[in-house]
Amino acid sequence: MKQVLVKNPQDIQIVEAEEIDKPQRNEVKVKVIYAGLCGSDVHIFEGHNPFATYPRIIGHEVMGVVEEVGEDVSDLESGDQVILEPIKTCGECRPCRIGRPNICENLQVYGVHRDGGMQEYFVIESDKLHKISSEVTPEKAVLAEPLTIGAQASLRGEVGEGDTVLIQGAGTIGLCCLLIAKHKGATVIVSDLDDDKLQFAEDKGADYTINIGENNLLDEVFKITEDKGVNVSMDAVGLNATFESAVKSCAPAGKVVVLGFEEKPAQVSQVDITKGELDVRGSRLQTDQFPYIISLLEKNLIDVDGIVTHIKDKEEINDALELFKDNSSRKILIKF
Ligand SMILES: NC(=O)c1ccc[n+]([C@@H]2O[C@H](COP(=O)([O-])OP(=O)(O)OC[C@H]3O[C@@H](n4cnc5c(N)ncnc54)[C@H](O)[C@@H]3O)[C@@H](O)[C@H]2O)c1
Ligand SMILES: [Zn+2]
Ligand SMILES: [Zn+2]
Repeated sequence: MKQVLVKNPQDIQIVEAEEIDKPQRNEVKVKVIYAGLCGSDVHIFEGHNPFATYPRIIGHEVMGVVEEVGEDVSDLESGDQVILEPIKTCGECRPCRIGRPNICENLQVYGVHRDGGMQEYFVIESDKLHKISSEVTPEKAVLAEPLTIGAQASLRGEVGEGDTVLIQGAGTIGLCCLLIAKHKGATVIVSDLDDDKLQFAEDKGADYTINIGENNLLDEVFKITEDKGVNVSMDAVGLNATFESAVKSCAPAGKVVVLGFEEKPAQVSQVDITKGELDVRGSRLQTDQFPYIISLLEKNLIDVDGIVTHIKDKEEINDALELFKDNSSRKILIKF
């Protein structure tokens, strides 16, 4: 069977591996249909992901069909369409014990710390898989993982009916944050530098869009909110400038939801946080958001049409990586 292997930074290969073992007791063998290509896969290829070790089979946005189940598996059967929940947690550390395993002290992400789903088959414990109705097309089902990132951002921001939310960045993650915040009943403002991305965000429900190449972000946000500021400000870009703007865009009692991984310190003043008692909250991966996202997809309650812009065969992984770089794609899928 074929695997997409990053042997070393800048060295990606399609390798032929031995046919996989039968699933043991609580394990499931999955035949992969699609894996979404994500910034973190590209960073592993480029050698910029601090968590990755090599060689690594990449891929954490993965869906497929159950091929075979181990003898103790009762909730899945051959032919079920499934999605991978790509995190392995210890269950014992404090974050795990307080119900926040996404920030487990011993967290391992499939496709980053351990091998992921860009391979024709893999075997995994059944509790890492979620069944999704075959009425949801594979091209939509594979979006579940990035959608859970958007769901976690709304969870961390406690987004609800009547909130006004600013989302900086209309890339894949910004769009996922938008779809969920709209589903939670918020009014959403989206900013980006790219008119096409902003137009797409409007098509997906953004109430207001701001092109920061043409307008001052904070001026526009305060105009839209009648000088109040937003209740929740999500940074789905991850630059120091966007983090700083996120803090400045909040109304009193606002929440800043930070999704980026920039290591250099930003310039945020204490007074901006203290005077309005802002909460600055990180949002990493997700906890317990797969069932919610699956129900939204199964009930057709979010419109994900058009998010997938390209489908490439596994053999075309190099083309897919090139395409990713030119920033015109939304989600590129790799087909197995
Ligand atoms: N916390 C998590 O769990 C998690 C998971 C996945 C991705 N991320 C992070 O989310 C961020 C976005 O990821 P993505 O895959 O959507 O990236 P992306 O490159 O697809 O999207 C980024 C978007 O931001 C826009 N942009 C650039 N500068 C901007 C600015 N100053 N203001 C507004 N928009 C601007 C770009 O035009 C682009 O549309 C990254 O920082 C990534 O590391 C976090
Ligand atoms: Zn991803
Ligand atoms: Zn843990």
